[in-house]
Amino acid sequence: MTTLSLEEASAHLRFGSDGLWLLDQRRLPGEVHSVRCQSAEEVARAIADMVVRGAPAIGIAAAYGLALEVRRGGDLDRARAALLASRPTAVNLRWALDRLRAVPTTQWEAEARAIHLADLAGNVAMGAHGAELLPEGAVVLTHCNAGALATGGWGTALGVVRSAWARGRLSRVYADETRPWLQGARLTAWELANEGIPVTLIADVAAASLLAAGRVHAVVVGADRIAANGDTANKVGTLGLAVLAQHWRVPFYVAAPTSTFDPDCATGAEIPIEERSAAEVRGHREQVWAADVPVWNPAFDVTPAGMVTAWITEHGIWRP
Ligand code: MRU
Repeated sequence: MTTLSLEEASAHLRFGSDGLWLLDQRRLPGEVHSVRCQSAEEVARAIADMVVRGAPAIGIAAAYGLALEVRRGGDLDRARAALLASRPTAVNLRWALDRLRAVPTTQWEAEARAIHLADLAGNVAMGAHGAELLPEGAVVLTHCNAGALATGGWGTALGVVRSAWARGRLSRVYADETRPWLQGARLTAWELANEGIPVTLIADVAAASLLAAGRVHAVVVGADRIAANGDTANKVGTLGLAVLAQHWRVPFYVAAPTSTFDPDCATGAEIPIEERSAAEVRGHREQVWAADVPVWNPAFDVTPAGMVTAWITEHGIWRP
């Protein structure tokens, strides 16, 4: 079994006596630069601005944010409200804040670390369960970034990929570029290449041809919130992949920790879908190619439960 220390696995999310250090995911892969947060307000801004992103990672960062606020003797209700408002779709954020609320404030720092550690251990367990689902020499397609950067370490969908690679079961990963924010092109490709895992980047629109050609054995994605009936919210574009996978009879797996399951949401229709700024679609960074066109930019979509072959969790495999 893979064992990783928090320090080894989490250079992107480091909590110390001098604050919370977050690897700035907006600047990757060009620049490896960390941002320091010293209050919950700063952590909330870092989450909203996508310095840190990915459902489990924003939950962990939010928990550390509240712990920072205890340290500085701040207004804890205000801090919690700011963190809750930072991004609406991933339920891990509320889940982590609720866990802190259930223990005395003197324990918030330890509880935040415990959440972080449990996420890392859960991902390693999830990876082991997921790897067993893949055939020998598997070729996997993934979307967005559900890797170490998006979690406490190791990753969910990329945790499955890592575990399959470590067991010699994986031959290649296709990574969707994931317009408009390019999590796949900038983050997934970077993570996998750093580990020597063979990765081929594709434009999102090439996924149909890839599946039609029979070049993929499984689609493996992460999740931001899973409703009680199994409907699964994940990065926009995931639903399209599920439709393709169903059509071409390719297994469609969702890898997510139980902190991503929301028993208070009966179906996917109740999951709040974040809409982000038009600027993300009108261009990229300084380059703008559609300045005045109206834009609709939902950051997530919902895949109906019936289209999911199985959910891979830290406790094992769940089927519809
Ligand atoms: O907008 P993002 O980059 O935070 O979206 C991330 C995703 O959709 C991930 O697939 C999801 O959070 C799972 S990460 C383990």
